[in-house]
Amino acid sequence: MHHFSYRAGVLHAEGVAIPHIAAEVGTPFYCYSTATLTRHYRVFTDALKGLDASVCFAVKANTNLAVIRTLVGLGAGCDVVSGGELKIALKAGCPPEKIVFSGVGKTEAELRLALACDVGQINVESEAELHTLSKIAAGLGKTARIALRVNPDVDSGGHDKITTGRKEDKFGIEWTLAPELYRKARTLPGIAPVAVAVHIGSQITSLAPFEAAFLRVRDLVLMLRADGFAIDHLDLGGGLGVPYDHASNITPPSPEAYGQMVKRSVGDLDCKLVFEPGRLIVGNAGIMVSEVVSIKDSTTRRFVIVDAGMNDLVRPAMYGARHDIIPVKETPSGAELTSADVVGPVCETTDCFAKGVNLPPLKAGDLVAFLTAGAYGAAMSSTYNARPLIPEVMVSGEQYAIVRRRPTFEEMVALEALPPWIE
Ligand code: LLP
Repeated sequence: MHHFSYRAGVLHAEGVAIPHIAAEVGTPFYCYSTATLTRHYRVFTDALKGLDASVCFAVKANTNLAVIRTLVGLGAGCDVVSGGELKIALKAGCPPEKIVFSGVGKTEAELRLALACDVGQINVESEAELHTLSKIAAGLGKTARIALRVNPDVDSGGHDKITTGRKEDKFGIEWTLAPELYRKARTLPGIAPVAVAVHIGSQITSLAPFEAAFLRVRDLVLMLRADGFAIDHLDLGGGLGVPYDHASNITPPSPEAYGQMVKRSVGDLDCKLVFEPGRLIVGNAGIMVSEVVSIKDSTTRRFVIVDAGMNDLVRPAMYGARHDIIPVKETPSGAELTSADVVGPVCETTDCFAKGVNLPPLKAGDLVAFLTAGAYGAAMSSTYNARPLIPEVMVSGEQYAIVRRRPTFEEMVALEALPPWIE
């Protein structure tokens, strides 16, 4: 459920007409709905009622300060994977003790920053990282509360490029090797091994892989406790999928069903549970709005060329993802639909958002919206083809605000300089 809907034939974000925003900020742009963000956060936390749970929003899904601040205001913590994300979470007002620092390749500088800020938990991904962290923590006179992120060797069944819990994936410590590393960890200065973490992938559309992974974690916790470890936290990662493309008929499990599965797999362990959802919270809370540049008919196809490109929303080009595309002006019932490819202006064939979708008659200047673009949309955008990053707008009821403006050309190139040997 989201709060983007037609009112009097025009797409609105909550109470604000999309063409109204487009007239002010220009296209393309991202638009986020506060009511949807709030609803998704609440639906997820409600599904975990009865558990001692905390939700740390996976900042990588959307690094916009206003989005993070909104969620932090609702009580969310943050899951961060870089020094930059850590600083953004703090800037958004997230209390450091509600921050989990994950990531497969944290640098010494990032670990030092995390310790200096007293983040709540650091998820260690390798033996080498454990030793580095111990050295830095001991040097600072601090004790890091850590989880080892275990790799449960479970295939999430999702897209190969975002599946993280198989043995051959770069993430985590093989679950069979984890007990030994926990034993090592407790001998190291500056390290308190108090948690177990797992994250098996993203856009997961079945509960079975989650359950298989959580049961492995459960076994590990029982084994560690028998060995004298005081494991009091489980970090169960993120990954629950959302519906993207209505034509595909893929319906991911509901948060309620996910909550039930968590309860039956690890609910009796008397651990505080940490969750790191990203997409589930913010995916449906954002759209990307773009303007049709032109229509091109060839002998075999119709191309709808829009002013957003793969640099603005890379998911279709990168993962073959499908985002529903709808016209901002509601299609009158009975209008004739034509099959078309919706493509961007970037000079690559992969700059194609959808092939053979049925669309109403569109012409240059019409606006279209790409749905479910709030997660990994703006966060993964780039300036490829020297296209400035597109603005982000947040709506709340009847109000809206630009929460990231479009940079000027000068700002886009401001960090570049010619070397002294070039005139
Ligand atoms: N925790 C960890 C350790 C993660 O690596 C991720 C996502 C999450 C939580 C949040 O997962 P979510 O709840 O959003 O599924 N760019 C890709 C998705 C990459 C996900 C990376 N890790 C996409 O656009 O589909």
